[in-house]
Amino acid sequence: MQIVILATTDDIETFTGDYILNRIEAGHLRVLGVATGSSPLPVYRGLAKRWTPKVGALTAFALDEYVGLDYSHPESYHAVVDREVTQPLRLDPMRVHVPDGNAPDLDAAAADYESLIAQSGGVDLQILGIGTTGHIGFNEPTSSLNSRTRVKTLALQTRADNARFFDAPELVPSLCLTQGLGTILDAAEILMVAQGESKAHAIAQAVEGPLTAMCPASVLQLHPRATIVLDEAAASELLHSDYYRYVFAQQRGITHPGLIDPGRSATAN
Ligand code: F6R
Repeated sequence: MQIVILATTDDIETFTGDYILNRIEAGHLRVLGVATGSSPLPVYRGLAKRWTPKVGALTAFALDEYVGLDYSHPESYHAVVDREVTQPLRLDPMRVHVPDGNAPDLDAAAADYESLIAQSGGVDLQILGIGTTGHIGFNEPTSSLNSRTRVKTLALQTRADNARFFDAPELVPSLCLTQGLGTILDAAEILMVAQGESKAHAIAQAVEGPLTAMCPASVLQLHPRATIVLDEAAASELLHSDYYRYVFAQQRGITHPGLIDPGRSATAN
């Protein structure tokens, strides 16, 4: 796991935009996993500013969708992904996929979604946010660490957190169709973004706490290529932030007085 702590939202936009474009240009990124919510917005802005035809040729898979929310609703993830990802990145809508939370048979829709991801060759890079409950996708605490796409009930805390997107708290749907933790772990690479003090506890649990279903994001400790990009507030409860800054500075070629071989301890995991 690599932890990158940056000062401003603009820095996050620049770092993640450069990161993803490099992966695309190097031929390692054809299928992008996309998250919704506030956290990944700088990522999409950064990538839109660096647009090339190869960006426009990406296939995308969203993590989740509310169950029973009409897709014409501006906060359905079909609508959010179209507005925040498909349009700014000029993707072909036929290559942008979102779980079908309005399917008559949700279990079948979940299985179809898994098949579609597999048929596409799998997700090359998965963008993630994190909920205050420690969820990724909508895998709330006690989710199986091996779970696949399925129906989940949102935690009351998540419904309260997402009430800001709806006219009234009771209008936040209570069910969702979400990729599982096992599905997310199948991505070749993970790029998580978290900003703000409200995420500090979940981030500390995910990065430095035990591997536990009580903090679903802690499952990223099992992933060999996970990068977590934070602002100072989201990083504020980390015990080892000096170490993360030191590793990142090394990778950026900034030498440290105590360092014997700057190339050696730089690691992506
Ligand atoms: C939604 C999703 C969620 C969000 C998380 C954080 O697709 O994957 O895990 O990333 O709820 O949302 P924000 O960034 O709005 O706090």
